[in-house]
Amino acid sequence: MCGIVAYTGSNPAVPVLLNGLRRLEYRGYDSAGIAVNTPDGISIRKSKGKVSELAGLLGEDETQIAESTCGIAHTRWATHGPPTTINAHPHAGGKNGIVLVHNGIIENHHALRSTLTAKGYEFLSETDTEVLAHLVDSHYQGDLVDALTAALKEVHGTYGIACLSEKEEGVLVVARRGSPIVIGVGEGETIVASDASAIINHTRQAIYLDDHDIAKISQNKIDIRSSDNVPVSREASEIDWSADAAEKGGYEHYMLKEIFEQPEAIRNTIRGRMDSERGTAVLSGLDLSPRELAELQRMLIVGCGTSMNAGLVGEYAMEDFAGVLAEVEQAAEFRYRNPIVGSRDLVIAISQSGETADTLAAVREAMDKGALVAGLVNVVGSTIARETGRGVYLHAGPEISVASTKAFTSQVSVLLMAALKFSRSRRMSVEQGRRFVREIEAIPELVERVLAKNDEIAKIAEKYVDQTSAFFIGRGYMYPVALEGALKLKEISYIHAEGYHAAELKHGPIALLEKSVPVIALCNDGPGKDKTLGNVAECQARDSRVLGIVTEGDEEAMAAVNDYISVPPCPLHTAVIPSTVALQLLSYHIARLRGCPIDQPRNLAKSVTVE
Ligand code: AGP
Ligand code: GLU
Repeated sequence: MCGIVAYTGSNPAVPVLLNGLRRLEYRGYDSAGIAVNTPDGISIRKSKGKVSELAGLLGEDETQIAESTCGIAHTRWATHGPPTTINAHPHAGGKNGIVLVHNGIIENHHALRSTLTAKGYEFLSETDTEVLAHLVDSHYQGDLVDALTAALKEVHGTYGIACLSEKEEGVLVVARRGSPIVIGVGEGETIVASDASAIINHTRQAIYLDDHDIAKISQNKIDIRSSDNVPVSREASEIDWSADAAEKGGYEHYMLKEIFEQPEAIRNTIRGRMDSERGTAVLSGLDLSPRELAELQRMLIVGCGTSMNAGLVGEYAMEDFAGVLAEVEQAAEFRYRNPIVGSRDLVIAISQSGETADTLAAVREAMDKGALVAGLVNVVGSTIARETGRGVYLHAGPEISVASTKAFTSQVSVLLMAALKFSRSRRMSVEQGRRFVREIEAIPELVERVLAKNDEIAKIAEKYVDQTSAFFIGRGYMYPVALEGALKLKEISYIHAEGYHAAELKHGPIALLEKSVPVIALCNDGPGKDKTLGNVAECQARDSRVLGIVTEGDEEAMAAVNDYISVPPCPLHTAVIPSTVALQLLSYHIARLRGCPIDQPRNLAKSVTVE
């Protein structure tokens, strides 16, 4: 995820800002920039690529920049506009010398851009952030805090902001709604950042802003107000993390951090895309013309690994709700088997990285055969995103750990929204659509309830640390969950694990069951549960211990298994996500107890860019 660093004090700002950005590089980014107050105004330097390239732009001969003691800096993880130098932050606004950096998404940036353009503002970039810079400028009447406060009242979306004005040298104005901002309180200096890792080299006294806080910071004064301009008091707390732990937000591994980021990541994925009034989803990247929609005969979903598992949920949801013939296929298989695909097919390529070689090749094969192709991608400006030219960005933020977690749950969230969208263009009523919207909007809270069971799951994991093999079984919507749960366990704990359809066990794999081979069974309450409980009994009759994922309050299922993790009640098509989160935590704790290098498992890469 992008990063913000800002400094005001008595020392040169540039070294502090660059070192702060380097501490935030782990968050993933595609470009970087810096802006500092100088006697001649605000100097901005920015560049696509790494912080090292940005540093190369700050020549020693630029005395004014080198001597400046107040500035802001940013590492961008593009959401709106590809990763280019012109789209990099900081962005300048209008004619009052306003310059800012921003983490987050301005949802209503199109409307604001139109209004500002009509007022004569000229835009240089494709970003939503530049809109914010001009908006602040349009409200500026000599006080930066007032201008930012007024501007933010017009903004829908999320932000962490650091702002400079050339007319208020040495003053930083920062604000937060949905994207963290921490203020490091030093001796005669203040450093602001997106997380503690960029400030602990200067101070361990930290003030964490709350949503809607706006802070005016000068060398020796921090004044925090609410969005209604009412002074608020925020006590400083001691940061007791190591630098390495700070990078992971205090979590032991990026994987655990990203598992716990999922409620926010899913909120960002669905943000601005749910129309509760009309009971539908707004996914412009999947807008098909009425003719394309009418002629659509099939949806083909291609991907690899976790992305393929997410695609299977999409297949089920598309057929279940939209009545659209859908099928998922391993991308390498699709690209080489000379598939029958053509202009009446919509091919959706799912890829967190947007760089997976087999998935990219499948995209090209589908395009060569005349299919409509769309990407469901997390990394903006990635190859698959660019070559498909249409699709839906996850907005899940960078995923650092090799094992994919938040990308999967965001992919499934988008696929459920897509199923809703296609359903409403066919036979789904507005009331049914409104219910589906409520079900999707409830997902983040369901995930939070599972995350609250982390300690309980860690305890259960202790019983499943030493086995050499395991089976994950499920049916219906829980079959992809079984596949994903098995993938998580095997790739981070090195335990051989297989995901199987619950009914398929007795067609062979049951021969492998014995005391040392546990079974993790998806026994969620709903259609098919009774059949799965029957499969559970078959496993136990072969001495396998069965850990059930059950619905909270389902005494029957709890009694049927040897151990259980309960997840909140919800429809099976959304239960995919909280159930998967439970299995993510289970696999994480098993791997942790086995002392595995969780974030970089042996033999694996985060993006498989080779065949
Ligand atoms: C999942 O945990 C793995 N890291 C792997 O299966 C991954 O999902 C697969 O390589 C596809 O990557 P992509 O989503 O970036 O295309
Ligand atoms: N939405 C802004 C952009 O795309 C900020 C992205 C970020 O958080 O880095 O530039």
